[in-house]
Amino acid sequence: MEWHQIHGWFEWRTGQQEAVSHFSEGSCFVEIGNFLGRSLCSLAELVKQSGKQINILGIDTCRGSGPEGPKVKDYHREAVEEGEGTFAGLLHKNIIKCGFANDITLIVSDSVNASLLFANQSLDWVHLDGRHDYEGLIADIKAYIPKIKPGGWLSGDDYHEEKWPEVIRAVSDALPRAHPWSKDQWRLIVQ
Ligand SMILES: C[S@@+](CC[C@H](N)C(=O)[O-])C[C@H]1O[C@@H](n2cnc3c(N)ncnc32)[C@H](O)[C@@H]1O
Repeated sequence: MEWHQIHGWFEWRTGQQEAVSHFSEGSCFVEIGNFLGRSLCSLAELVKQSGKQINILGIDTCRGSGPEGPKVKDYHREAVEEGEGTFAGLLHKNIIKCGFANDITLIVSDSVNASLLFANQSLDWVHLDGRHDYEGLIADIKAYIPKIKPGGWLSGDDYHEEKWPEVIRAVSDALPRAHPWSKDQWRLIVQ
């Protein structure tokens, strides 16, 4: 199996390519919100191709986000139902099938709870693609910004006014110095 065969909405691989070429050997990347592993396995493939030893961690409740966004749609319902309340097994299987069982560390947890596992200024790049509601994204930003090394990146998905207005509002309120990045992404270079 290859990453693009996994169901999902990921389409900003050029941003991942930029990260893999920018950061050096021994870096640590965290993706919050993995769903079935499409973006996570794409990242692991790019890291493998680079020949750099970079730690990749994926964090997801594996219980979906519930109804969200202006459409109030539950995008993950089918996978949650298929796994009888959790898609952790599907996600893990996809990672194994793509050949990244030893390259990706998966943490099945709420993102803010999992942030307590990391020391301050210990992470190089954290990408937020978990909760897309205003309060949820603000909570993720507040939880993870102290964990990033100076010069590291905090970024996030779905920076799109019509589709995800709460993402735009949360980022502009919490991180006025963040900028649009890649395709419908935002990014802050932490100082
Ligand atoms: C948009 S999907 C991620 C898509 C994935 N990055 C991709 O490109 O294929 C959002 C994910 O965030 C997860 N999620 C929602 N709330 C969360 C939370 N509080 N902590 C961790 N994960 C959460 C959901 O379970 C869902 O899998």
